Amino acid sequence: MSMENSIGIGLLGAGTVGGALVRRLVGESDAIALKTGLTFDVRKIGVSRLHAERDFAVTEGLLTDDPFEVVNDPTVDLVVEVMGGKDPAGDLILAALEAGKPVVSANKELIAARGPELIAAAERAGVPFLFEAAVGGGIPIIRPLSETLAGETLDRVIGIVNGTTNYILTEMEAGATYLTALEQATDLGYAEPDPTADVSGADAAAKAAILASLAFGTWVDPSNVYTEGIEELTAVDMSFAAELGYVVKLVAVCERKDAGVNARVHPAMVPKDHPLASIRGATNAVFIEGAAIDSLLFSGPGAGGDPTATAVLGDVIDAARETLAGAQVAPRIRFSPGEIVPFTDIPTRWYVRLQVDDQPGVLAKIAASFGDEEVSIRSVWQEGVDQEAALIVVTHQAPESAQRAALASITAIPEVIEVASVIRVLGASK
Ligand code: HSE
Repeated sequence: MSMENSIGIGLLGAGTVGGALVRRLVGESDAIALKTGLTFDVRKIGVSRLHAERDFAVTEGLLTDDPFEVVNDPTVDLVVEVMGGKDPAGDLILAALEAGKPVVSANKELIAARGPELIAAAERAGVPFLFEAAVGGGIPIIRPLSETLAGETLDRVIGIVNGTTNYILTEMEAGATYLTALEQATDLGYAEPDPTADVSGADAAAKAAILASLAFGTWVDPSNVYTEGIEELTAVDMSFAAELGYVVKLVAVCERKDAGVNARVHPAMVPKDHPLASIRGATNAVFIEGAAIDSLLFSGPGAGGDPTATAVLGDVIDAARETLAGAQVAPRIRFSPGEIVPFTDIPTRWYVRLQVDDQPGVLAKIAASFGDEEVSIRSVWQEGVDQEAALIVVTHQAPESAQRAALASITAIPEVIEVASVIRVLGASK
């Protein structure tokens, strides 16, 4: 295929993912052409620093620090947005779609915040807007949820969707400190430019919002995703978890209940025999439960330039094929109105670690606090040292609001010195 027939790519962002994508488009162009019959030519790249060091060859006029120049370049047929952040990425994508250019994006934050608007703009323009790389890095999960499983009734999606935090937790299990593990994850290119987004759970919450929206067909705004990160987790709880038969993971849980849908992100004790318990390092996994399929597990590299670039490249090829077909592209995703169930109504199970005065009657008072809220206790473990005792209570499933109310009354018991930690325990579906 001659260069004139190549598809002109305009790239917004040339960081970890953008750089990997350019290297693949250039270095593997023959292999891509053999497999797909398509050739691509990177015609413009929008970057924030024109003179930064790059790990790909830069030809004259390729780079610009005006991202709208990329979108408006008449030789750019298809726009790839891997710059991240909500602004100006959102306006750039809208401008590209309005100009009739297909867009591929890896931007979970933006898609979670403005997904319906961007999808509607693509529908109006009749061009593809694809975002496979936004969740799970190199794992194909957007397409399975929105296309392959479109006819399935899905009940629950549980994901380990942040590579940085899973890497940190895995390293902590092996004895590393939180800070050392975070530094390593950053050096390996897994973390966001500001890793607070990873450790606070915000990155996973954006992905949870996208997964829930696609799985259940009701748009879930990230502001409706209850979010807790891993900053408070301690090595002590991780080793108690191991003793009790669990592994601690940061999970994104999306559920469809009779009253509506719910999505949340928090650390959870995952039973050692659950498929998600064995997901280690920066690997991501998405466990899907549905009426007919029972369960499916998708797992693979969830962060890092090369795996994420594979997902972007797949979308680029898909969008190019659809565009070459010439027809108006039918929307692949539709959302209908639905209720969001507040997290406080969702049944959860808790692991609570308390530091208490080792005195007669303390355990009875704690048990009564749970009982008063109709929270049943599953197991209790106590270890006394001098006059104090570490007390661990694992509860049965009860509404999150009841668990919280019980904890509030436990906190008021004079012999309770400290509520050292609360971690939810992953329970069975429905
Ligand atoms: N910082 C993200 C992670 C990158 O660690 O998973 C992929 O979105």
